[in-house]
Amino acid sequence: MKSVVERIPEPEVMDDAREVKAYCDADFREVNRLCARRSLRASGRDRGHAIDLGCGPAEIPIFLCQMAPGWRVTAVDASPEMLAAAARSVAAARLERRIRLLKADAKALGSLRTKFDLVLSNSLLHHLHDPMPFWREVKRLAKPGGSVMVQDLFRPNTRAAARRLVALHAQGDSPLLRQLFHQSLLAAFTPEELRTQLREAGLENLQVRKVSDRHLVVRGRVGEA
Ligand SMILES: C[S@@+](CC[C@H](N)C(=O)[O-])C[C@H]1O[C@@H](n2cnc3c(N)ncnc32)[C@H](O)[C@@H]1O
Repeated sequence: MKSVVERIPEPEVMDDAREVKAYCDADFREVNRLCARRSLRASGRDRGHAIDLGCGPAEIPIFLCQMAPGWRVTAVDASPEMLAAAARSVAAARLERRIRLLKADAKALGSLRTKFDLVLSNSLLHHLHDPMPFWREVKRLAKPGGSVMVQDLFRPNTRAAARRLVALHAQGDSPLLRQLFHQSLLAAFTPEELRTQLREAGLENLQVRKVSDRHLVVRGRVGEA
């Protein structure tokens, strides 16, 4: 069934102190742990260097490093507020030597020349007004044969469906968090839109798959040289 709800983009960078606090206080552990596990599974390696685009409070890099001692992560976010929260969490987990925090725009990382074994991202895509520069960076940053694991929400077919998902999954959350979740659902891309983006970026070998009633995963390897 075709999506009938038009996409409503939301602000890109999360630098509103109230929103950052609400996001950092929320419990995304289950989804984030799963995301770290999926990323490691996608890579098929027990060591390497990953980049997390739009890392937020860095819970996923922390889980990933705790699950796999052979990995280190460069964690990128454009929001100083988020990076301050990330720095506190990374220090509390004593992972400063394996997680490098970097303030940068994930769509324009030109000065970063490193190539990565794994490019991962969770819940950034729906923030982007134009996702194409992001996909070009994903392609550029991955080593030949490197893995990609991008997870995000997908846009429901109707506004009523979006409201149902908020009621189902954010019942106990604050009104602000519920509002952010609703906005994010309406800002997300559909699997069809993502497949078009991937074709345009020359990343058509990546697979797009729904993995829950609200999440999708874009996964695969960037072409060998
Ligand atoms: C919804 S949060 C997700 C955080 C984290 N990945 C997680 O799953 O917990 C989205 C993050 O992407 C960041 N962000 C948005 N646009 C960005 C951009 N162009 N470059 C880097 N970070 C960006 C926001 O500041 C925010 O921290």
